[in-house]
Amino acid sequence: MRMVNHERTSPYKMKVRDLPGAERLDPNSKLLDLPLEFCACGLSQNKPFCDDSHRITKDEDPSQIYIYSESKERIKSGKFYRPEDKI
Ligand code: FES
Repeated sequence: MRMVNHERTSPYKMKVRDLPGAERLDPNSKLLDLPLEFCACGLSQNKPFCDDSHRITKDEDPSQIYIYSESKERIKSGKFYRPEDKI
């Protein structure tokens, strides 16, 4: 098991023109304006792309840790303390 912390609740949005190597495409190509959304919440079943699974994170309390199962069932744990926090 590996635990990975994701704090974003929405995808990274960009266009093809923002990707490395896009300068090699025809500057008039409509492909350059194609919108892309990359998963930043960690829940997408279609990584690296967003599949809208992040919607289930919208009501998260930032002071809490949330653990999601493979079936995206949410398990809420206790308060999250960072090493620099005073308890
Ligand atoms: S940001 Fe992860 S599914 Fe949308």
